[in-house]
Amino acid sequence: MRLVLFGPPGAGKGTQARMLEARLGAPQVATGDLLRAAVREGSALGIQARRCMEQGQLVADEIVFKMVEERLARPDASSGFILDGFPRTVTQAEALDRMLEQRGERLDRVVLMKVDDEEIVKRITGRRTCAKCGAIFHVVFDPPRQPGRCNACGGELYQRKDDAEETVRMRLRVYLEATRPLVNYYVRSGLLATVDAVGSADEVGRRILGALGCNSGAIPRGAGAAVKAGG
Ligand code: AP5
Repeated sequence: MRLVLFGPPGAGKGTQARMLEARLGAPQVATGDLLRAAVREGSALGIQARRCMEQGQLVADEIVFKMVEERLARPDASSGFILDGFPRTVTQAEALDRMLEQRGERLDRVVLMKVDDEEIVKRITGRRTCAKCGAIFHVVFDPPRQPGRCNACGGELYQRKDDAEETVRMRLRVYLEATRPLVNYYVRSGLLATVDAVGSADEVGRRILGALGCNSGAIPRGAGAAVKAGG
């Protein structure tokens, strides 16, 4: 399955991608995770990306595309992947289509996860992420068993720098201007399915599986948590 999970910041793309990995047998490829890893490593690319990310702006299309191209060339993505946070502009979507065409492949589905802005602000400002394995929690909606510690690996939980309310509102504006136009792009290609992403993570997961035409049996929670961020 070659899937794109698409939607505003905080819609739950990362949460669902991690839950779907085991079910679909395809790795999550999250450009946010790949970029954060580059920032941590202090690579030239990471230094370039850091400022844009902290301001809630998009990183340049060519930088992000190169990272995705390299990640999708790895063997675990040869028969499928779950793209999370990419594409985010029409330019990125066109570059992805061209790359897949060269590989003799195409996307199977693009799922748009719909959530309103106030719910998004609540979700993002309460998010906590594991520094070690990338598992995602929420202080109210999905609290860890032990405060500040990851259920899956015991790693320390941290709050992302771009999760401050002011930056979240900027990310929402950027989403509306740069990313939302992709809806028409994928409607035209006949790939778009829209899913109501309000409800428990399990309910949303069942709706996504329904949109993919999969049997919506239980998704193992945290099944993807052992997979290192970015694959
Ligand atoms: P990125 O990391 O991709 O951030 P995002 O798209 O803004 O999405 P988030 O990671 O904030 O949210 P999510 O939808 O994954 O939600 P999550 O599952 O965590 O990108 C960060 C930055 O990198 C960008 O701003 C940009 O600078 C750069 N970047 C990345 N990709 C790029 C690209 N392609 N081009 C250019 N620049 C790029 O859930 C959020 C919270 O809600 C969690 O606490 C979770 O526990 C909770 N939650 C999840 N589901 C539910 C539910 N159903 N009910 C209640 N709470 C829930």
